[in-house]
Amino acid sequence: MKYVLGIDLGTSAVKILLLNKAGEVCLEETRAYPLIQEKSGFSEQDPEEWIHQTIDALQSLSRKFEGNIEDIEGISFSGQMHGLVLLDEKGNVLRHAILWNDTRTTGQCKEIHDRVGMEKLLSVTKNSALEGFTLPKLLWVKENEPESFSKASTFLLPKDYVRYRMTGHIATEYSDAAGTLLLSISEKTWSGEICEILGIPPSLCPPLVESHECVGTLTSAFAAASGLSPSTPVFAGGADNACGAIGSGILKEGDSLCSIGTSGVILSYEDNGELDFGGRVHYFNHGKKDAFYTMGVTLSAGYSLHWFKDVFAKDQDFESLLDGIDKVPIGSNGLIFTPYLSGERTPFADSIIRGSFIGMDAAHSIKDFVRAVLEGITFSLHESIQIFRENGKVINTIVSIGGGAKNDTWLQMQADIFDATIVRLKSEQGPGVGAAMLAAVGAGWFSTLEECADVFTGKMKEFKPIAANVQRYKKLFRVYQEVYVSTKGLNQQLKAFRN
Ligand code: XUL
Repeated sequence: MKYVLGIDLGTSAVKILLLNKAGEVCLEETRAYPLIQEKSGFSEQDPEEWIHQTIDALQSLSRKFEGNIEDIEGISFSGQMHGLVLLDEKGNVLRHAILWNDTRTTGQCKEIHDRVGMEKLLSVTKNSALEGFTLPKLLWVKENEPESFSKASTFLLPKDYVRYRMTGHIATEYSDAAGTLLLSISEKTWSGEICEILGIPPSLCPPLVESHECVGTLTSAFAAASGLSPSTPVFAGGADNACGAIGSGILKEGDSLCSIGTSGVILSYEDNGELDFGGRVHYFNHGKKDAFYTMGVTLSAGYSLHWFKDVFAKDQDFESLLDGIDKVPIGSNGLIFTPYLSGERTPFADSIIRGSFIGMDAAHSIKDFVRAVLEGITFSLHESIQIFRENGKVINTIVSIGGGAKNDTWLQMQADIFDATIVRLKSEQGPGVGAAMLAAVGAGWFSTLEECADVFTGKMKEFKPIAANVQRYKKLFRVYQEVYVSTKGLNQQLKAFRN
């Protein structure tokens, strides 16, 4: 039997899957690493931790692997998007990586809008400047840490750095390059013009390859440390959302995805790079060659539930925390939660807004709070669906993956709030499977991702919207939407009290 490895470099952990030619997950390993949050709005990681934990997971996986190590015919990646890794000319990391959920760059986003102009920015990159993207982070380092910036020879995205350490080759690929705000999305080239306007040396931009392209093999040092064969081909991989889409078979016009990890996204496949959403949703290159996707992002989706558990129910596991929420009625007995724990992206890019519980009552129990958190996350994702529908997209069926797909009550809630059929997949490993599929196509097992998806993915269960619930949620959604408007000014005043 032959195998491929999918390495999913997430925000909280690296998860590695070994799949065989039938698309079965034969082995998996996960290793966690911490976020470094020195101030409100800052979110960093030490890239060395990614390397350390990836090697540790691979060592353990290769020890458990019973076949011939040469039968692993490819490795590819899925990576947390947008993070800035800066390297000097010797390939050394110059500072901690600044991550996608870091919101320190509001000033730099304004600077980009002012200097490049919204019209040009949208026509080249198809996206407006958001705090999480890479370009504002580059500008922040240039302005605040000029010494590091002057030593920089290239920037990389998180998974590209791990691949560099595995192979010695520097490269990125289009799906992650799209999230930098420096790529011309439809031309698939770095924008020399945007670099010039903002004073970013174009030489900082790494070479571009396709997601399924081979960038090299493992260095002998990495092979020895991980237990893998030095001849293993390494394929470029993709952004986590692109890989989540690939791993869920989102490969043709009309396909949509709801993915709830730390962040949550509603993603829609596009085969055209020239549509105009006016920057209201993200517009990126897919990991499938010459395809695209549009996407709305809730910054703190799964993270909201994690946060709630850590602060209010530390001793419980997720299963017991969610147990019984099906008995709480729609609307959580009059409690609404907004998931703006670290600001928000879609539908309003706002780094200052923070979350709320509205309507707390002496009669509420912890189960009301838990259901309200799930409803709030799902309402936030629904705001993205609304934008797609307002732009003429028909969204009747949505594949749901990630933490949100693990609980039947939450899946039914998605069907009722989104007013769409929700599909749960047979294997619910999302981005890691997408990464493995890129390796499988790169290794020549299949000639297209679609052929691979026929073998690697499949539906398991459908959740249909229930008409009475849809109507009840429509009423509640209107109240939910008022919470942002009503708390925006309050949060601006509270900002002065944040550390
Ligand atoms: C997408 C985004 C997040 C990260 C999570 O624009 O910032 O979904 O990719 O890893």
